[in-house]
Amino acid sequence: MTARLNLDNIQGLVARGYRGLSYARFTVIAIPGPDAGHAALSWLLPRITTAGKFTADSALHVAFSAAGLRRLGLPDGVIAGFSAEFGEGMAGPDRSRFLGDVEGSSPRFWDWGAPQGSPADAVVLLYAATPEILGRRQAELAGCLAAAGIHQVTVLDTVELGDNEPFGFHDGISQPVIQGLSKGARGARALPAGEFVLGYPNAYDQFTDRPLLPASDDPRHLLPRDPAGSGAADLGRDGCYLVLRQLEQDVGAFWEYAAEATRRPDGSYDPQARTALAAKMVGRWPSGAPLIKAPDNDDPRLRDDNDFGYHHTDPDGLACPRGAHIRRMNPRDSLDPAPGSEQSLAVNDRHRLLRRGRPYGPGTAGTAADDDHAIRPARDDSSPARGGTGLHFVCLVASLARQFEFVQHTWLNNPNFNGLYDDTDPLAGSRDGRGATFTAPGRPVRRRYRGLPQFVRTRGGAYFFLPSISALRYLDQLPAGAVSAPAAPPTTR
Ligand code: HEM
Repeated sequence: MTARLNLDNIQGLVARGYRGLSYARFTVIAIPGPDAGHAALSWLLPRITTAGKFTADSALHVAFSAAGLRRLGLPDGVIAGFSAEFGEGMAGPDRSRFLGDVEGSSPRFWDWGAPQGSPADAVVLLYAATPEILGRRQAELAGCLAAAGIHQVTVLDTVELGDNEPFGFHDGISQPVIQGLSKGARGARALPAGEFVLGYPNAYDQFTDRPLLPASDDPRHLLPRDPAGSGAADLGRDGCYLVLRQLEQDVGAFWEYAAEATRRPDGSYDPQARTALAAKMVGRWPSGAPLIKAPDNDDPRLRDDNDFGYHHTDPDGLACPRGAHIRRMNPRDSLDPAPGSEQSLAVNDRHRLLRRGRPYGPGTAGTAADDDHAIRPARDDSSPARGGTGLHFVCLVASLARQFEFVQHTWLNNPNFNGLYDDTDPLAGSRDGRGATFTAPGRPVRRRYRGLPQFVRTRGGAYFFLPSISALRYLDQLPAGAVSAPAAPPTTR
């Protein structure tokens, strides 16, 4: 049975990507102590957009890191009820290794979120319909933060590129459909809400771990009670994890690689072959049309098409290579042990991400067909550049380990993904000495493209928790050290 969600208690970012609010800015802040944190939270709380209420011109959200929750006065014993990955933080040494944030992507080089820099205690996400509205909201926020004595660690600006990401491809097409929260096409596979919102049954029909407090720690009954019936106050319910990663894209290197690899025998550039190779790497054409349905040429009529599987139509990856970005990030029905079966789809269901990212930087000068892309020099690998162009990658999940980290580690950065043996994700994979090959199956022979440069580097990032409205109210009234200990040890996945 579909669980009924409390939409007025859930931050609206879970329900909407705000396509109509084209302008966005994410402000990462460091909270000096509980008083400053509470002053800011009291100001933010009435302004937060919920899933139940949408204002047409702007939206505001706030999420906290484990350190940020601690600075609001939440004791370590309660923070331990969140997942271990969240507690360690994205820049922790074990997390960096696991996520492939090494060499040029290492936190050592990050502009924000690095252990040696200012703490990324919280992020305020602002969305607006026009640049003027965004400017006004940002000025109001800056005023509140200054009055509270809160330091802005970085303000992550975004850029409006239509629906494109900086390599020039239509992005944001495929999203999971969530029971009770989002509508999909007829017959679309809907996932249980607990895959994205804590405190509801997940794909295992269990409740994902979250902090549960003795009811005595919530005498004003601000928090909902544990739906599993323990009587504990549920700090996690109606909230979820928010992954924020600043992924810098080397647009010149991407298109130069595709152009060089597809030169004609006489040495001249072949723009069509170049775009076709780039599309093979993505799994969609620049318009968004999926290769599985448009294998030979772009077809803008299919730009939003998301109604396909892989196994029955293209088991060998002749149309959409098995290592293409979208086929890795959401293999749909092509996972072992029984590709094409319900079992395969069910395994895939456990690793879905709700993506909410926005591009930043000057973006692409033109489209993927712009000849300029072929001749811009690649960046010098030895000097990781600052700023630049890329994606402020945001995804929302109920389990950092089983969803975001699994996809990043086991699918994106795995050179042995799905029968391959030296291929990480051609777009965003870490090369790290291995994985610099892209295999495009073909008849009579496959093509192997070697020496792929690192097109994407991590420049900053943090794990945050996007609390429910009731959890924010609870945090707001929390005197430092007020909560005793978690009510129940985590038992579920
Ligand atoms: C700068 C880096 C990245 C770029 C330029 C990029 C670009 C794209 C594009 C163009 C699409 C196709 C549009 C769509 O299906 O919505 C896509 C899909 C997707 N990407 Fe990325 N991406 C990047 C990084 C990542 C990362 C790091 C992850 C996860 C760890 C990820 C997960 C996904 C997922 C889940 C899909 C949807 C696949 C599907 O459902 O078919 N992407 N990406």
